[in-house]
Amino acid sequence: MSTLQTGLKGKVALITGSTSGIGLATAHVLAEQGCHIVLHGLMDQDDGLSLASEFAAQYQINTFFSNADLRDANCIHEFINNAVNALGSIDILVNNAGIQHTQDVTNFPIEKWNDIIAINLSSAFHTIQKVVPLMAKKKWGRIINIASVHGLVASANKVAYCAAKHGIIGLTKVVAIECAEQGITVNAICPGWVDTPLISKQIDTIATDKSLSYEDAKYQLVTSKQPLPEMLIPREIGEFVLFLCGNAARGITGSALPMDGAWTAQ
Ligand SMILES: NC(=O)c1ccc[n+]([C@@H]2O[C@H](COP(=O)([O-])OP(=O)(O)OC[C@H]3O[C@@H](n4cnc5c(N)ncnc54)[C@H](O)[C@@H]3O)[C@@H](O)[C@H]2O)c1
Repeated sequence: MSTLQTGLKGKVALITGSTSGIGLATAHVLAEQGCHIVLHGLMDQDDGLSLASEFAAQYQINTFFSNADLRDANCIHEFINNAVNALGSIDILVNNAGIQHTQDVTNFPIEKWNDIIAINLSSAFHTIQKVVPLMAKKKWGRIINIASVHGLVASANKVAYCAAKHGIIGLTKVVAIECAEQGITVNAICPGWVDTPLISKQIDTIATDKSLSYEDAKYQLVTSKQPLPEMLIPREIGEFVLFLCGNAARGITGSALPMDGAWTAQ
C-alpha cells in the first residue's frame, strides 16, 4: 500500500510496547506510511532516544520516546500528556504492551497477577480514557488493542493472561459502541503464536523438560494448539493494524479479529 492510498501521512501513532516484537514491527509499518511515531517500552532512556532518532532519520517523521511503566496510572497520564505536547495529538493508538507468566492457578504469584492485569488490561483503559477526547475533537481515530487468541479461548496455566485478554476484548466492544458516532473505530486483534521474545521462556521450558532443541520445542509449542504449523512474524500483525487504520476499514469496529492459523476454528 502506498502512502497516498492509505492517507495516513502526518497522523500521529502511539504504540505501547514498541521497543520489541509486534509493537516495534507495527511502528515500522506505520512510519513507512509517513505517520509520526510515539515509541514506548521498557528501554533505557538513551537507547530509546537513539531508537527514536533512527526512526526520524529513516522515515523523515517526528518521533517521541517514553519508557513509562504501564503498571502506574499516573505514569501513563504523564506519558500521554508529554507525547501530545511533543507531537501535537494522537490519531492512532495501538495498545500493544504485554507480559506473560505461566503457572497453575493455586501457585500463581499475586504480584504476577497484578502486573499482568495492569499492563495487559488496565493500561489500555488509561490510554483510551486520555486519547478518546483528542480523537473525538477531530472526528477521526483508530484504536487497536493487541489482544490474543487467549482473549477468545483459554489454556491451562495462563489465568492472568487469559483474564486480561478476555477483558480487553470487552473493553474494546464498549469503547467501540461509545465512539461509533465520532469517527473512531476500536478493534482487538487476536493473534495466535507470533515469533517474539514474549514466548521464548515457554519454548525454553519445553526444550529443557523434553530435551529438545529450541527449534523442535518451538514446533511442538506451535502445533500443540495451532493448525497452521508455524509462527506468524511480527510485521504481519503490523500490516493488519495498517489495514484497520485505512478508510476501507471504517465499518470494522467493536470486533475481536483472530489472526490465529485456525486455532479458534477448532
Ligand atoms: N508473541 C505472541 O505469540 C503473542 C500472541 C498473541 C498476543 N500477543 C500480544 O502481543 C503484544 C506484544 O507482545 P510481543 O510478543 O511483541 O512481546 P515483547 O516481549 O516482544 O514486547 C513487549 C513490549 O511490552 C513492553 N512492556 C512490558 N512490560 C512493560 C511495562 N511494565 N511498562 C511498559 N512497557 C512494558 C516491553 O518493553 C516491550 O516493548 C502483547 O500484548 C502480547 O500479549 C503476543
